[in-house]
Amino acid sequence: MNKGKNILCIGAGYVGGPTMAVIAAKCPEYSVTVADIDENRIKAWNSEKLPIYEPGLSELVKKVRGKNLFFTTDIAKGIKDAGIIFVSVNTPTKTFGEGAGKAADLQYWEKTARAIVEHAEDSKIVIEKSTLPLRAAEAMHRILHSNTKGLDFDVISNPEFMAEGTAIDDMHNPDRVLIGGMESPSGKKAVKTIADIYAHWVPREKILLTNVWSSELSKLVANAMLAQRISSINSISALCEKTDADITEVAKAVGMDSRIGPKFLRTSVGFGGSCFKKDILNLVYLCEYYGLPEVAAYWEQVVKINDFQERRFVKNIVRNMFNTVAGKKIAVFGFAFKADTGDTRESPAIYITKMLLEERADLAIYDPEALDNAARDLKDVKGKFELVTDPYKCAKKSHAILILTEWDEFKKLDYGKIYESMEKPAFVFDGRNILNHRELFEIGFNVFPIGSTKMTHLK
Ligand code: NAD
Ligand code: UDX
Repeated sequence: MNKGKNILCIGAGYVGGPTMAVIAAKCPEYSVTVADIDENRIKAWNSEKLPIYEPGLSELVKKVRGKNLFFTTDIAKGIKDAGIIFVSVNTPTKTFGEGAGKAADLQYWEKTARAIVEHAEDSKIVIEKSTLPLRAAEAMHRILHSNTKGLDFDVISNPEFMAEGTAIDDMHNPDRVLIGGMESPSGKKAVKTIADIYAHWVPREKILLTNVWSSELSKLVANAMLAQRISSINSISALCEKTDADITEVAKAVGMDSRIGPKFLRTSVGFGGSCFKKDILNLVYLCEYYGLPEVAAYWEQVVKINDFQERRFVKNIVRNMFNTVAGKKIAVFGFAFKADTGDTRESPAIYITKMLLEERADLAIYDPEALDNAARDLKDVKGKFELVTDPYKCAKKSHAILILTEWDEFKKLDYGKIYESMEKPAFVFDGRNILNHRELFEIGFNVFPIGSTKMTHLK
């Protein structure tokens, strides 16, 4: 067995599954195994219905599964057989003890390090694919070298930059692949081994080689700066609503400055997803830890503005629906944190629906991919809500429609028909600014975009 051509990925989640499917498809001479402790998840990866929805993923997995891509719960065997081990387990925000609410919870990550020490029979390259705080690779290195078998490990940082909904495209055409390694000769050799895998489809000039610490920090900073752009534009959306400025026009004018650029300036109900908030808070914690309170406060404000935007959206709904939504049916269109994914982790929809249920609204929720996750998120939440598999039924007899996810499907619905089926006056609160507001107004809706003047028939 040529272990150098055997890749194991520990963690079969949103990162592990898609990244390994792409590596298997692009590198047919490698055998790629993805292992997880979650039996149901592995069962789903081996079934017709994959555990996550991602455009293009199912086709890709079917092409390589059983050939050079395998999913298993046998982590011990996976470790024994592989020469290269990617670790892409979850690193959520810590909820207990020192650093609770900010620092990364490294328990899952440390368990994998210990499993590698326990089961390895020879030296290996171990790659951090999970997003980790600065100096985590160093800690991994120490745990791995605590082995009493005389084994040597090279630890590499190779953060993942793909975004959900476009994961497969992002991995096929990455802006860059970042590989951070140690300065030693074996560290350099390990970096080359990993770079050679990506070089199967990524141009060499896009493969950046750095030291481990720059690589780890770059990942946190990239996420923080992306989220910062959204909070910047969302903060200005609040100002636009108080004046006659239109956030879409402002974002366009600002984004046409080539130094600023147009991307990530779409105003919204707030950013969600499993990464942004967690990674910024992790950065905030690191700054506090290293005695930089001003830097910590600067980045924490990005999260505070996001919370403000979610609260502001709900306040706006209640205020404009005559200061009460109690007992009123409200249709929620979209529960996923963004379009083209079923993922609802940290979705603004979770916070917005909870706030509306506290106001005793009667909610009907529709999402083309995220209803199973929505059911899990709202399992213990008190209040009246139903999950509906048809948008027209969802809107029927409702007083208002809220757009919380930017699904294309919502742009194509027959709003004339929807309007007819609703209570009057009928409201639309477009939390993603994706609908044709003028058209909706002409149908009869009272329309509340984000960051521009409302269009209302109310006297
Ligand atoms: P996820 O929760 O979807 O998947 C993690 C998987 O690891 C789970 O299936 C879990 O069962 C498994 N796991 C946990 N402990 C394990 C152990 N000891 N042994 C084997 N398996 C174990 O998480 P994800 O979204 O794939 O994220 C993974 C990492 O990648 C995180 O650090 C995240 O910040 C980072 N990341 C995520 C994204 C994204 O878009 N989701 C993008 C870039 C980076
Ligand atoms: C993000 C990073 O983009 C990716 O590089 C990293 O690897 C993981 O974290 P992801 O969270 O999957 O990816 O999606 P992203 O497209 O970044 O969107 C995050 C949130 O911001 C979503 O809720 C999205 O709707 C919102 N968003 C995005 C806006 O509100 N406005 C924008 O202009 C862009």
